[in-house]
Amino acid sequence: MAISSAQSSAEINSEFNNPNIARTLFSEEQIRERIKILGAEIAADYAGLNPLLIGVLKGACFFLSDLLRAIDTRVSIEFMAISSYGSSTRTSGEVRIVKDLDVAIEGRHILVVEDIVDTGLTLSYLLANLASRGAASVKLAALLDKHERRQREVKIDYLGFQIPDEFVVGYGLDFAERYRNLPFIAVLKNPEA
Ligand code: IMP
Repeated sequence: MAISSAQSSAEINSEFNNPNIARTLFSEEQIRERIKILGAEIAADYAGLNPLLIGVLKGACFFLSDLLRAIDTRVSIEFMAISSYGSSTRTSGEVRIVKDLDVAIEGRHILVVEDIVDTGLTLSYLLANLASRGAASVKLAALLDKHERRQREVKIDYLGFQIPDEFVVGYGLDFAERYRNLPFIAVLKNPEA
């Protein structure tokens, strides 16, 4: 089929306007505004405590970097990577640490930064694991909460948004490593397509 000369290849290859995106759930601005509020709360709660923010790779990368810049108090960061077995849209519950911390956390105030809590299997494992290392406190900041699907209770101390039971992508969240680069959070029409 001939391509209309009015359509540039950049438009045709646009991921942000991908036809498999059903709708935008949260715009860049909504995300920015919510994170500003969370950052101010965290800065007030942790003032003088030098908390260690632990970003869970890869999904939390944008949330961590934006949240960090909204926290106006002394703070450090670390990263962990977790692998959980299952299909591309569902966690199986078998969790493994594939990248551990580079530092000891005994006596530290830990704030885990995660993209989304779905079944809660990954986070309940990770939070218990960190608590067992002698941290002074272990809390959780999650951008999204799909509460309907929870199998393990997980306390989210700082939450961005509640979402319905739909598969979302963008702002770090992927489907099969795709769509992380969307600057907004969107629902896919057919995640398994
Ligand atoms: P949980 O152990 O079921 O809570 O799964 C948490 C992980 O599953 C998240 O860190 C995501 O990597 C992934 N996940 C769950 N729901 C979604 C979604 O809607 N979009 C993208 N990834 C998701």
